[in-house]
Amino acid sequence: MTITFTDAAGSIPETEGTVVVLVAGNSTLSGAAKDANESMGGALQRALDAKSFKAKHGDTMSFPFPGGMKAEKLILAGLGKDTQKPTDARILGGRIGAALGKLDKPGATVFADDLDAALVAELASGIKLRRYAFNRYKTGKGADTLGKGGVTVATAEKEAAATGFIDADALAEGTFFTRDLVSEPANILYPATFAERLEALSEHGVEVTVMGERELEEIGMGSLLCVGLGSQHESKVVVMKWNGAEDANAKPFCAVGKGVTFDTGGISIKPAGGMEEMTMDMGGAGVVSGLMKTVAMRKAKANVIGIVGLVENMPDGKATRPGDIVTSLSGKTIEVINTDAEGRLVLADLLTYAQREFKPAATVNLATLTGAIIVALGNYNAGLFSNSDDLSNQLADAADTEGEGIWRLPLSKDYDDLIKSSLADMKNVGGRAAGSITAAQFLQRFVDDSPWAHIDIAGVTLMKEAKPLHPKGASGWGVATLNRLVRDNFEPKGTT
Ligand code: BES
Ligand code: MN
Ligand code: ZN
Repeated sequence: MTITFTDAAGSIPETEGTVVVLVAGNSTLSGAAKDANESMGGALQRALDAKSFKAKHGDTMSFPFPGGMKAEKLILAGLGKDTQKPTDARILGGRIGAALGKLDKPGATVFADDLDAALVAELASGIKLRRYAFNRYKTGKGADTLGKGGVTVATAEKEAAATGFIDADALAEGTFFTRDLVSEPANILYPATFAERLEALSEHGVEVTVMGERELEEIGMGSLLCVGLGSQHESKVVVMKWNGAEDANAKPFCAVGKGVTFDTGGISIKPAGGMEEMTMDMGGAGVVSGLMKTVAMRKAKANVIGIVGLVENMPDGKATRPGDIVTSLSGKTIEVINTDAEGRLVLADLLTYAQREFKPAATVNLATLTGAIIVALGNYNAGLFSNSDDLSNQLADAADTEGEGIWRLPLSKDYDDLIKSSLADMKNVGGRAAGSITAAQFLQRFVDDSPWAHIDIAGVTLMKEAKPLHPKGASGWGVATLNRLVRDNFEPKGTT
């Protein structure tokens, strides 16, 4: 969906389609809202007087076929007490995006009076993020069920808002890339087709390298490769590089993602109920891919490397068995007790590879790793584990700034002891207790002392309900947080 900015919206009574006007938290009508009230013979003031509409932040109220206006619908949107932080404006935009409903031509005009250009850009990004739709497999619906009409944002600071929107739009496009990947079914999106979609990022200046099984065997990724042995699809590792840093030799920030395009559990097979949701088990790789698209589209002055391990976990005569022992790229041996704990086997080799190959300033891996994280945190916070208080705080700040939930959980030797194996250097599960933490301890065995964080996104990747900034389904959680982390910590200050 395209959003255009205009400073010449024309008069309120003459505007066709859907008209959105903003109302301050003190419920005083001004600007476009005042004009609309006059055209409508005072109807808006009556709604306020009757306290039907309280103008709280993100409140909306819809008036079909408003009297005295050419519009088909008028929407009031409340600014609340303070719409000052960027996320306030973004969430308000999201609520407006939802209230717009299905839009036909000539679309909607949002009169963004009294907001500065930066907030207008955020408002526009919220509208865009909320109006995402994935309709590829609904015949006849076209790309966007939300209709053919576009959204115009009317603002006195048209140029500055449009400029501010460039970066916000890069974030939205990266987030949509993630949502598309997460939404795709596993017969369409398997390692090879996933890799093809990533190769297309070269059009934005990302350098993309795809490695297949023969090369991964040569390198020695025995842990990652054992996961895909039961699949008809060849496993792939894709490395994506964006280097916009002023110092081309700056140590990179590395983002690493679990890309299990389908997870049946393998020989330790999952129960049938809900198994179809395991098409989202590539969510970590999806976020890394969306991040790469965003940093490239906004030409971030940072050195960012994305690495994803793409595999399918299936049962088969050739599949890895419970009890098998594999040798990871690090040389450490792993007893595979449960073939359903496959994500950590994929990430182990990727983490070793990232640190050996790129000597990163910091590494963050993302994965839909454990059901246990949903038991602990539900669907509102991702789980954060880290060997560095600094990186952990930077991530928590970034998530806070972007309005994404994250919560840190502990790591310690006691938990690490739970993955001791009698036959190999470690086993891949630690029993029922503290399942998300023992998974994180497993990953930590493959990282050196450089700053590292693991984010378990199993609970936040696929949402049963819409939120202000996304519809039901794939959320794209994490693209905004990681983009913010890069911007605030790995780019020169003062870049917008
Ligand atoms: N992909 C799953 C984790 C998951 C569960 C993601 C629910 C999204 C929603 C992972 O591969 C898995 O199966 N984990 C097991 C680990 C167990 C065998 C130790 C789990 O959580 O049950
Ligand atoms: Mn699994
Ligand atoms: Zn999995």
